[in-house]
Amino acid sequence: MLVTGANRGLGRQFVLSLLDRGAAKVYATARRPDLIDVPGVVPLRLDITDPASVAAAAAAAPDVKIVINNAGISTGANLVTGDLDTIRREMDTHFYGTLNVIRAFAPQLADGAILNVLSALSWLAFDGAGAYHAAKAAEWALTNSVRLELANQGTLVTGLHLGAADTDMMAWYTGDKAAPEVIVEAALDGIEARRPEVLADDWSRQVKAWLSEDPSVVYREAAAALTA
Ligand SMILES: NC(=O)c1ccc[n+]([C@@H]2O[C@H](COP(=O)([O-])OP(=O)(O)OC[C@H]3O[C@@H](n4cnc5c(N)ncnc54)[C@H](OP(=O)(O)O)[C@@H]3O)[C@@H](O)[C@H]2O)c1
Repeated sequence: MLVTGANRGLGRQFVLSLLDRGAAKVYATARRPDLIDVPGVVPLRLDITDPASVAAAAAAAPDVKIVINNAGISTGANLVTGDLDTIRREMDTHFYGTLNVIRAFAPQLADGAILNVLSALSWLAFDGAGAYHAAKAAEWALTNSVRLELANQGTLVTGLHLGAADTDMMAWYTGDKAAPEVIVEAALDGIEARRPEVLADDWSRQVKAWLSEDPSVVYREAAAALTA
């Protein structure tokens, strides 16, 4: 098993929960592996946006059967006025970074699994998170395509959606946040049950239901501004 972004937040919780469930070997990867503080794991350097780093990690971990693509960023950039390099960094991380890891590890994942940590914002735009929404939507589409492409080698590809979990990324948010272990346990239960999708909280279930609505219902403020 291998977890990206394992030095903190949900990634660190994935490592803890995998060990709790009896995983024999967990590669805990991070841009700075010296920050991995969970005993009993194999720390490995991995920056998902750096193809050389991804190739080196795949070579160093040839026995991986499950990859948890957890690493992510949230820059707060909007699309029309945000800094274009920042917008590209969101896409480089969530879309190309996740794809880098999948392409490098896919040959060894026959009969294994990939879990991509997506978001309720894969399905919902949010003012102040335009770049994040677009990048997570792209990562969701990637998840669906990769699932099709790897089905014939028996690789399960699961998308995990969540609204808000109590990590550094959501430190600014004062509303309800799920404990990381609640989200991660739901995700690992989903892999064990070989489910293609896990909706880990009420937010992700609600936002998925909104997909069948007209945008004027979901984005009421935008609709009201247009008719004012
Ligand atoms: N927390 C939430 O409410 C929430 C909601 C929906 C989705 N998510 C998703 O859940 C995942 C984990 O988020 P989190 O809440 O745990 O965030 P977090 O606490 O900010 O942790 C993010 C992790 O990703 C790593 N990372 C970022 N860019 C990387 C790269 N290029 N290569 C390798 N690692 C990289 C970070 O490493 P450094 O320490 O080096 O920065 C850190 O370990 C993300 O994909 C996020 O989009 C979170």
